[in-house]
Amino acid sequence: MKVFDIKNYISSEQKIAKANSKPDAKKLYIETYGCQMNVADSETVNSIMIDNGYALTSDYNEADIIFINTCSVRDNAEKKIRNRLKVLGFVKRSRPGVLIGIIGCMAERLKEKLVEEEKLVDIVAGPDSYRTLHKLVAEAEGGQKAINVLLSREETYAEISPVRKSANRVSAFVSITRGCDNMCSFCVVPFTRGRERSREPETILREVDEILSEGYKEVTLLGQNVDKYNWNNGEVKFAKLLELVAERNTEMRVRFSTSYPQDFTDEVLHTMAKYENICNYIHLPVQAGSNNMLEKMKRGYTREWYLNRIQAIKTILPDCAISTDLIAGFCSETEEDHKETLALMEEVGYANAYMFKYSVREGTFAEKNFKDDVPEETKSRRLTEIINLQSKLSLESNKKDVNKTFTVLVEGISKKSSERLYGRTSQNKVIVFSGKPDKIGTYIKVIVTSCTSATLLGHVTREDDLIHSIN
Ligand code: SAH
Ligand code: F3S
Repeated sequence: MKVFDIKNYISSEQKIAKANSKPDAKKLYIETYGCQMNVADSETVNSIMIDNGYALTSDYNEADIIFINTCSVRDNAEKKIRNRLKVLGFVKRSRPGVLIGIIGCMAERLKEKLVEEEKLVDIVAGPDSYRTLHKLVAEAEGGQKAINVLLSREETYAEISPVRKSANRVSAFVSITRGCDNMCSFCVVPFTRGRERSREPETILREVDEILSEGYKEVTLLGQNVDKYNWNNGEVKFAKLLELVAERNTEMRVRFSTSYPQDFTDEVLHTMAKYENICNYIHLPVQAGSNNMLEKMKRGYTREWYLNRIQAIKTILPDCAISTDLIAGFCSETEEDHKETLALMEEVGYANAYMFKYSVREGTFAEKNFKDDVPEETKSRRLTEIINLQSKLSLESNKKDVNKTFTVLVEGISKKSSERLYGRTSQNKVIVFSGKPDKIGTYIKVIVTSCTSATLLGHVTREDDLIHSIN
């Protein structure tokens, strides 16, 4: 693969400074909700807008344009955004020239309805229309409502270098696929993000080189289902891409998200085992523990298949932490089904989980074909049981780390104490320890002394890095 000449590359910092130095440039403020993919998309939007003469701001009070990058995956995600619109509406009332744009999944899902329901919205732009955002802004400046919700089969924003605003340049997202073809029966993503497509590997590697040149130490490769990454009819598949990225610089940590059980291969595990810099962490959403539910969810695998994948992880990568996503109270879920979810959680011993109540999404297979018939109290009670069990499992998993030493990539200063730093282990566990800010962005050896279910506590193993004991 090609080595890129990055001498001519202009860093995010330089691009922002240049854009913001133009006195007449209109200012864009973006607020991002939802998944990591949205974070990455907002960085692509930054880049597109800067290239079209806009400056960036972190203060909506001085913005000329406000974009909200939205999530539709559950009803409460959309409710949150509608509430936020009320607050941002005040900005528009005090400065009527300000333009408000809803971009991302909610824009795609609701289309024209959004401008009818939310009078303050001027621009509606789906995830595949970001190259036209400056045109939509121009249209809206002319007094019209501007809408582009066309989905594409090709758009990957491949050659666009995202403009990252992160304060400490430690960890960056790089998207490798867009869209999803899985059509899980509960999920709105295939409708809001369109068909699955893979980004050209050379452009991914170029972006990795760029972030390395900016001093980043960790990259997370993103896709709704990274295991389906496929360039040029199998020429480069996910395991190969992972290898290419890992070899780019062995000092850089590599993570990825999200894996899909049906498509998750041993080949990926062997690649992970081969490269020290690929982190020992896999997020493998199971959603539910019973075959009944998995079938209704159209996940395409059984409980047994999933457990076989878990066994493969534990055999090939014994130090690997595993996390998951779980949905409580899907259509017709019985107490037995729910118990199977709890039992599966115990059997796997997840280090972490993202847990949700089922939320009906319009247009999905489940909405059209099944009844949302689990009573709200039952859903809540089952979710609480799932959360409580996961707390116990997380604590058990963390306790196993006490007295062990980990290489930690230091990410920043702890929110609770300015004398403490935090970072993550290869297993994606957050660890807090005493240290000085000059260690941010470096690897440091930390011994774990205690833990909660959410965090590891420890101290650096080298005496000169110690300020005082953590206890
Ligand atoms: N493959 C994606 C999944 C996107 S949605 C990824 O990259 O993360 C993230 C999680 O939200 C899903 O795994 C699922 O657990 C949850 N989810 C999706 N649709 C949902 C719904 N209708 N109700 C509740 N939770 C849902
Ligand atoms: Fe959604 Fe299933 Fe794709 S959860 S994003 S349809 S893998």
